[in-house]
Amino acid sequence: MTKIITVGLGPRAYAIHVGNGLIEDAGTLLKPFARGPLPVVTDNTVGEIHLAKFLEVLGRAGLDARPIVLPAGEGSKSFSGLQTLCGELLETGVDRGGLVVAFGGGVIGDLTGFAAGVLKRGIAFAQVPTTLLAQVDSSVGGKTAINAAQGKNLIGLFHQPRLVIADTGLLATLPRRQVLAGYAEVAKYGALGDAQFFEWLEQNAKLALAGDGAAMVHAVAHSCQMKADIVARDERETGERALLNLGHTFGHALEAATGFSDRLLHGEGVAIGMALAFRLSVQLGLAPEQDADRFIRHLKAIGLPSTIGDIAGPRPDADSLIGHMGHDKKVSDGKLTFILLRRLGEAFVTTEVPRAALRDVLSA
Ligand code: NAD
Ligand code: GLY
Repeated sequence: MTKIITVGLGPRAYAIHVGNGLIEDAGTLLKPFARGPLPVVTDNTVGEIHLAKFLEVLGRAGLDARPIVLPAGEGSKSFSGLQTLCGELLETGVDRGGLVVAFGGGVIGDLTGFAAGVLKRGIAFAQVPTTLLAQVDSSVGGKTAINAAQGKNLIGLFHQPRLVIADTGLLATLPRRQVLAGYAEVAKYGALGDAQFFEWLEQNAKLALAGDGAAMVHAVAHSCQMKADIVARDERETGERALLNLGHTFGHALEAATGFSDRLLHGEGVAIGMALAFRLSVQLGLAPEQDADRFIRHLKAIGLPSTIGDIAGPRPDADSLIGHMGHDKKVSDGKLTFILLRRLGEAFVTTEVPRAALRDVLSA
């Protein structure tokens, strides 16, 4: 039941293995890339639940695994987190021909990829993602970063992994809210470029989210295939890769307005952001209303938020959200970039969004 997807980047091409229970094979899969000590970076939550098993399979393959456990949470994606990690990586004695393994969610993947990218001017790394968000998005494509006081993910580099191993079985221990937040990124792929996949999700997502192994493997593998294809065509986001930011201009503004707190997880912000992108597209006469309604109906059916009013606590107002959008990485020549929809399954990039329409959608 394992699916293998290739990210076609020429000499830097790599495989994404997706399967239920795949952790059992992780040692064999990693062995050809490893040399000498093998740092395995994780956070304390994943560490408590899954590290012993992971170390056992690595040991069985004869690998010299050296666990490094960091505090769970976005706080580790910081200069001080990077400093701690680089120090610990150097202590393992890993050299330039070695491999570093990121075993965790997007926080561990982004931080470890960045540290590996700068350590000794670049060491190879592998991603073993343990959240749905990391399996369908952050572990693929080579974006790595830490956060700055000025904003999220502002300090980083492109550093592609050598291998990605996504075991959907690991998602069984992920809190439901985190699973749903990751699912927003799965629905994103259907909305931005594959109406047939969206239809499949309408019929099968509940099954996948209820623990059906085959359905979840298909959802993750298809998402990875779509991302791999886009990344292979536009690694550095000079064009098409920007479509992967569907819902993110709105989502990041909502995350900023709610203080990057537990009030709104990243994927929840993306879910509301995608609904707002659909509503804005309808308001501008670009997309049919029934497509927006259908997409939003699906978010609701899955249990994801779809309006600003769904966020607990005081409602962020339109002007403060537009202010936050002005600080987005995607602002160019002072213009906000939006990913809008022509229909369900077809997104496009634009900087031509009238402020009045934006304000209306953010106030509705
Ligand atoms: P995360 O890494 O913080 O994980 C969420 C929580 O789940 C953490 O508390 C973690 O300890 C816990 N956890 C992880 N796996 C678990 C498991 N199997 N069982 C139980 N608990 C588990 O968050 P995330 O949502 O995976 O990633 C968010 C990060 O990803 C953000 O920093 C975001 O900027 C980044 N991101 C990067 C990209 C990219 O392309 N590089 C894309 C999207 C998001
Ligand atoms: N998460 C968006 C990207 O990788 O481009």
